[in-house]
Amino acid sequence: MSIETNRREIDRIDGQIVRLLADRIKFAREIGREKKKLGKRITDNTREKQVLEHIKNLAAGENLSPEDAETIYRLIIAATKGSEGHPVVTPEEIISGKAGKGNGTKVAIIGGSGKMGQWVAARLREEGKRVVITGRDRRKLLAAGKQLGVKTATNIAAVKQADVVVISVTIGSFAGVAAEIAPYVRPGQVIVDITSVKTMPVDIMHMYFKKAEVLGTHPLFGPGAKNVANMNFVLTPTNKRESALAQKVTAYLEARSARVTLMTPQEHDGMMKVILGLAHYIALVSADTLAGLKNIRQMAAISGITYKVLLTLIESVISEDPELYATLQMALPGLPELEDEFRKKAKFWAELAKNQDKAQFIRRMNAVHKKLEKNSVDFGKAYANMYKLVEGLK
Ligand SMILES: NC(=O)c1ccc[n+]([C@@H]2O[C@H](COP(=O)([O-])OP(=O)(O)OC[C@H]3O[C@@H](n4cnc5c(N)ncnc54)[C@H](OP(=O)(O)O)[C@@H]3O)[C@@H](O)[C@H]2O)c1
Repeated sequence: MSIETNRREIDRIDGQIVRLLADRIKFAREIGREKKKLGKRITDNTREKQVLEHIKNLAAGENLSPEDAETIYRLIIAATKGSEGHPVVTPEEIISGKAGKGNGTKVAIIGGSGKMGQWVAARLREEGKRVVITGRDRRKLLAAGKQLGVKTATNIAAVKQADVVVISVTIGSFAGVAAEIAPYVRPGQVIVDITSVKTMPVDIMHMYFKKAEVLGTHPLFGPGAKNVANMNFVLTPTNKRESALAQKVTAYLEARSARVTLMTPQEHDGMMKVILGLAHYIALVSADTLAGLKNIRQMAAISGITYKVLLTLIESVISEDPELYATLQMALPGLPELEDEFRKKAKFWAELAKNQDKAQFIRRMNAVHKKLEKNSVDFGKAYANMYKLVEGLK
């Protein structure tokens, strides 16, 4: 077929896609009206996950990339939410790629000279937002401002001029920063934090920023991420006002293909004690154990895949910022108790080997296998996934 004939076919198919999209949006509007009548939230994370799984399976069946199909559908879902009665991002904005871009919003990033602060500043700057950053160390702040091409200011001056304030300071500095800026926060001003724990900062924001629109958020990735696409965010609204803001933030992030989950600050911290606290603890203790051994270099050179993956985890954690990791280990509620439990289990498994109790070892391993398998979507793919990880390391 000639190029012209192929192009006519594409135009015909595009016509069908747009008509189908319009149909899809009509049904979504119906659902939006029903949800409103029933007083239900527009965002339904479980339903969204089901839709995306369905699409990925369909795509795989058609020999399309499930990841590409997911990205396209995240945009459609975000646009559809606009039609469900949530007008933050319009389908036109998403399709034209202009969602939320360059609308003159002025964003102050408190702690914008730090790693995550600079990352947030760079992403917002790319979108044409007017950004001002702050930090304690003036030389570091000026260097970051110059590199990012954004303005710098004191905390108070930045808050005074901003529509939106993002707090990206270390956990230990949070309370002091909140107390410092509180007298300058305006009614209706939006204040979000990105702290890795949530109960403490959200409580503090409630105490100091009563008239502002506040929301606790946690990006579950570090400053190495290229952008927010396929990255996880947790938002922790605690009342109706915060839920309304969380819906807007969700639409904003999902329009950029991020994955958003809503939960309470306490639920968040309960999960983070495992996701961050226990994971870091295991890596730190393993790092310390390895550091006391000889021939580490040679072992890495001759190792199989399990050790390579473990070593990557250990090395990535041990080369992180000790200040952040120490604070996290000390700030996550319930972590010491979980680590006590971990040490008991570590002793139990070591004793099995020491006592040559092979039968009990096998029984226990099978029992744990069964329990984890029941609760993990990717369990059956774990071995293959490990190889994929190592492929990515090359
Ligand atoms: N790093 C990650 O992977 C990650 C991921 C998700 C969330 N987070 C969260 O993001 C936040 C920042 O982490 P980070 O890794 O970016 O830490 P960081 O590199 O140490 O940055 C913290 C920034 O806060 C500034 N700061 C501290 N006290 C301040 C004050 N009183 N006034 C103004 N600025 C102040 C620091 O400035 P000076 O250096 O001049 O003191 C620094 O620029 C933390 O709450 C962390 O939990 C981090």
